[in-house]
Amino acid sequence: MTEDLRAWLERIEKEGELKKLEGVHWDLEIGNLTALNSQRRNAPALLFDKIPGYPPGFRVLTGAILTPRRVALTLGLPADGTQQEMIDAARQKLKYWLANLDSFKPRVVSEGPVLQNIKKGKDINVLQFPAPKWHKKDGGRYIGTGHTMVTRDPETNELNLGTYRVMVQNENTLGFHISPGKHGRLHFEKYHARGQKAPILLSLGHNPLVFAASTLSLPMGVEYNYLGAMRGQPVDVIEEEVTGLPMPADSEIVIAGWCPPGKTMPEGPFGEYTGYYASGERQNPIIEVERVYYRHDPILNGAPPSRPPDDGSYHLSLIGSLLIEMELAKLGVPDVKAVWLHESGPGYFFVTIAIKQRFAGHAKQAALYASELSARAGLGGRYVIVVDEDIDVTDINQVVWALCTRSDPEKDLDIIRRVRSTPLDPVIKKPTAGLFASRALITAVRPWEWKDQFPEVIGLDEDVVAGLKRRFGKELNL
Ligand SMILES: Cc1cc2nc3c(=O)[nH]c(=O)nc-3n(C[C@H](O)[C@H](O)[C@H](O)COP(=O)(O)O)c2cc1C
Repeated sequence: MTEDLRAWLERIEKEGELKKLEGVHWDLEIGNLTALNSQRRNAPALLFDKIPGYPPGFRVLTGAILTPRRVALTLGLPADGTQQEMIDAARQKLKYWLANLDSFKPRVVSEGPVLQNIKKGKDINVLQFPAPKWHKKDGGRYIGTGHTMVTRDPETNELNLGTYRVMVQNENTLGFHISPGKHGRLHFEKYHARGQKAPILLSLGHNPLVFAASTLSLPMGVEYNYLGAMRGQPVDVIEEEVTGLPMPADSEIVIAGWCPPGKTMPEGPFGEYTGYYASGERQNPIIEVERVYYRHDPILNGAPPSRPPDDGSYHLSLIGSLLIEMELAKLGVPDVKAVWLHESGPGYFFVTIAIKQRFAGHAKQAALYASELSARAGLGGRYVIVVDEDIDVTDINQVVWALCTRSDPEKDLDIIRRVRSTPLDPVIKKPTAGLFASRALITAVRPWEWKDQFPEVIGLDEDVVAGLKRRFGKELNL
């Protein structure tokens, strides 16, 4: 048996990582408390119960993987060591997970707790779950933020998991937004091009690993296997009766239905991960709900985006950075020592890379490749900064120091114009016919031609330091 959400909650509660709260309203109170909580680096996960207007037991969980420690506890990484230990352990695990995807194909079963309650027809009311209105200017209540959307490619049958926001339109209709080019969107667009309705399934409560897997831009078709690899055994799935899509058997809440071609409804605005309501209200596709499945006393996972950090932002920094590092190696960029996506550069906007320079143009090569890799999610690679290997890219102070002392804008800054972006990009004035943006590639490395004559960094004298540590180490906590 793999760990379901309830077992995960028990484990993190024992670790002192969970706070249970009662009487907090779905209308902005849960959202604002979640946002306040996110500002603190060691904040607990919040489990809301007795939500006004809802039966006790119908709960909402937020902040599940907000902090580095809970990311570590969830992914099975060392939770109490240094960040570097965590990155190194994650690199090993990620390599193993990606190398063994074929051994973790989902396993079809016929039973599971998610089948405890089934609603169809007139009994369907998605607002039986306390979907919060998260941010002041949101256009509605967003039931899908910490969820995954399961879709299928009608041509290849490949499955995709993606987290794409889902708003309640009415009791049996949901609205959603997926940026151009993302896998879930390619899927429903293919059905629509054939004049068919697209099957869609949402898992709305689950072990946070489901959310984590679903927020990564992994190659098409591998996320369910990746999730199994992370959990250490294939995911048990039940084939949903109407859509045939696989739902995790231990999910808390699953909603399934059809996305019809040619039907849209206004969706948004929504407080987005960039920290703005940038995409406003637009006509977006809908899901006509056919079935609702849930466990007794179901828990809805919430991960409302906000100005970073927010739930999911540290996980993306950790795993998103390692994915770029691994892909740069595959593309033949040698000696990439580290990659780090800073949480405050939301998602993939601010990519820092440390290399050991091997040839003229090496730094620019790393920057060029990384800018496209980090833009797979649609928005990203806006600033890519390449530094030398002596810089710790996870330390923003060191990155800024290298930027200011080793780059000369006239020769070290390149702008790539008219590249991919999304409606969520705050710098694009909407409406627009073309969602283009630009990227800045900055090589903040010692200039190749005279790198060996570059001014020496003021260092410490190792022998003197060793002596000082012996004498004052304890007193000064050196
Ligand atoms: C909380 C949260 C909300 C998100 N909402 C959206 C969204 O509304 N639309 C979207 O296109 N991407 C959204 N994303 C980003 C996608 O989940 C991410 O790009 C993922 O890689 C998409 O999967 P795909 O690569 O299989 O398309 C969100 C991410 C998070 C963490």
